[in-house]
Amino acid sequence: MSTNPSTPIDPQIVDQKMQQSGIEQIGTASIREIVALVNEIEKATGTRYIRMEMGVPGLEPPQEAIEGEIEALQNGVASKYPMIEGIKPLKNEISRFIKNFIHIDVDPRGCLPTVGAMQAAFASFLVAGRRDPAKDTTLFIDPGFPVQKQQHKVLGMKYESFDVYNYRGEQLREKLEAHLSQGHISTLLYSNPNNPSWICLTEKELQIIGELADRYDVIVLEDLAYFGMDFRRDISQPGEPPYQPSVAHYTDNYMLMISSSKSFSLAGERIGMLAISNGLFERQFPKLREFYPNEGFGYSMVYGALYTLSAGTNHSAQYGLLKALKSVNEGKRNFVEDVRPYAERARMMKELLQENGFNLVYDRDEDKPLADGFYFTFSFPGMEGRELLERLIYYGISAITLDITGSERTEGLRACVSQVGKDQMDQLQQRLQRFRQDHLDSV
Ligand SMILES: Cc1ncc(COP(=O)(O)O)c(C=O)c1O
Repeated sequence: MSTNPSTPIDPQIVDQKMQQSGIEQIGTASIREIVALVNEIEKATGTRYIRMEMGVPGLEPPQEAIEGEIEALQNGVASKYPMIEGIKPLKNEISRFIKNFIHIDVDPRGCLPTVGAMQAAFASFLVAGRRDPAKDTTLFIDPGFPVQKQQHKVLGMKYESFDVYNYRGEQLREKLEAHLSQGHISTLLYSNPNNPSWICLTEKELQIIGELADRYDVIVLEDLAYFGMDFRRDISQPGEPPYQPSVAHYTDNYMLMISSSKSFSLAGERIGMLAISNGLFERQFPKLREFYPNEGFGYSMVYGALYTLSAGTNHSAQYGLLKALKSVNEGKRNFVEDVRPYAERARMMKELLQENGFNLVYDRDEDKPLADGFYFTFSFPGMEGRELLERLIYYGISAITLDITGSERTEGLRACVSQVGKDQMDQLQQRLQRFRQDHLDSV
């Protein structure tokens, strides 16, 4: 309900569309529900929103990826099933990419194309979470990507989580140990850079995670959906430091999910990469035989999980990614520069919000200010996130609440910068000024 009869978006239409949407509480609505609601309001009012709710890439994919895919289709791959573990040249190129930009060695055998990082996570839960009956729970370092918890619900698997906000640096050790020492955690998952907060774990924190993963035999599922996008350090030169920070430098008990949706703007192709460490790929877990053809971890991932989920990843998309990675590995394309425009948008948007009375919620990595990147989090004095989101909808601005991400910062919203063009900054400024006048200046 709007408290102001003259908000930038006709409040009657907003009220009507909210009612029709079937959303009971806007604060707990999923990202896709908010997308659908705002689509409806835009259609009915003819007014464009400042859309900050969904992480859709707002940039063009690499030309090489398009060419690679077209060539593959012309060569007839559409009628052929791909190998489940991925086409050989792509597996080699993924391994090379990991060497070039993380500086670790993963055998091409453990480099698997997947139907997005979404499928990589699902497959990993199916195997990592079933390898030992005593270890039946995933631990999320939150805030996090809500769909991974949804995947647990769909699978009937258990999870626990905590908000890392209060446990940065050395404090992370004690907090993690409290969970891991109970012996029931199979997998530890976090995204880095983090969706939604854009915090980045420091080397010290990654080292703590690696040490504890070894001590308690926990598999770390490191979600690198925003690979290279901590723009404070330029990791873009193949084979040269600095490299993408990763727990893989500190333990062998890892799997890396490298989405190509954001770093390569290939979200529509539904292709991502999963890298299983050489040691973990080889390990045998007798319990796996109950579900999969044999006891091998890597074997179960390929011929158990990925086989039954989709029997591999789209054939032509593999050739597209192959060509893009080749270009990046050879230093012909700088994929970090390609996505750097997000940082500039984030900087501008944060500035506009702060000028108009809003605050940033997650704002530091230990002692360093956060990078400008794909997401940031914000709040408004005296309002819970749910109320703030509901009110912003009347001002032509959409986002999601941090509530649904496992964050304890219930006052916060997540903004995604990818769909907000520079041409919309004036509009954003005007709407925020109106919001401020109606909510701060009038108090
Ligand atoms: C943290 C995180 N993990 C995984 C994904 C899913 O990536 P993909 O599009 O490769 O399935 C996303 C997408 O937004 C994400 O933010």
